[in-house]
Amino acid sequence: METGQNGETDPLHARRELAEALARRAGSRARAFFLNRDTLHPELKSASQDLVSEADRTIEAWLRRAIRKRFPEDGIVGEEEAPTGGSSGFVWVIDPIDGTMPFLVGQPNWTVSIGIAREGRPVAGVIFAPMMRELYSAVEGGGAWLNGARLVMNQAWTIASTTIGFGATQKATPAEVGAFTEALYREGGVVFRVGSGALMLAYVAANRLAGYYDPALFCWDCWAGIVLVREAGGVVTFEGALDRPGALWAGNGHVHAELVRLSRETR
Ligand code: IPD
Ligand code: CA
Ligand code: CA
Repeated sequence: METGQNGETDPLHARRELAEALARRAGSRARAFFLNRDTLHPELKSASQDLVSEADRTIEAWLRRAIRKRFPEDGIVGEEEAPTGGSSGFVWVIDPIDGTMPFLVGQPNWTVSIGIAREGRPVAGVIFAPMMRELYSAVEGGGAWLNGARLVMNQAWTIASTTIGFGATQKATPAEVGAFTEALYREGGVVFRVGSGALMLAYVAANRLAGYYDPALFCWDCWAGIVLVREAGGVVTFEGALDRPGALWAGNGHVHAELVRLSRETR
């Protein structure tokens, strides 16, 4: 753990350390639900592919209790409960299971995502993919890491170098999905979708995707991933905020600019 001049623990690093521990423990809990998913009772939220179950709710409640116990003055924003305010300047941005649809149908590509905001800015992020045993972690100025190995994004890639994450859900219009896909393929790009926005951002940071565009994400889907991509040397624009969803573009500087251009032409 890093300490300041007087030996006190650095407040951001203390929170990042807790985020890593909580992501692993929440991941074990989620994995236990996943292995018994036939006993869950999924409910529809906004659409036929937007679901929630007791796994999401139980894990978010557990995460909130654990955060409050250690940092009672921090705010918390999460997918399944109303936001709570704080006085420390730090806000935890949590998604207990990002990729509920893959989770419920038995795909391994779902994650626990824990981001941290300081005075409204994304400053730390941890994404844990339990079924892949992969822990992604980043803190502002400290680099991005996957299971202890440094992540450095390929700056030479274009949108045609490897696949591009495209996150459109049922909320996107068929016209915008068709137009963006057509524009991307015209320029040599190929679409990838894994059902967890957090994992797609982690994949951008890890050079498994050349970039990612999502027309509408909430902060809990992307806060941790934003820090990961930036710390791996990439560029992210998120039009949303802690209190509203928005579009997101991520990639190296060139891919990011190309995705912004293609999506703006077709929105
Ligand atoms: C969803 C995932 C998905 C994104 C959706 C999100 P959930 O989160 O991040 O990749 O495209 O917009 O709602 O509901 O599985 O936590
Ligand atoms: Ca989510
Ligand atoms: Ca979720």
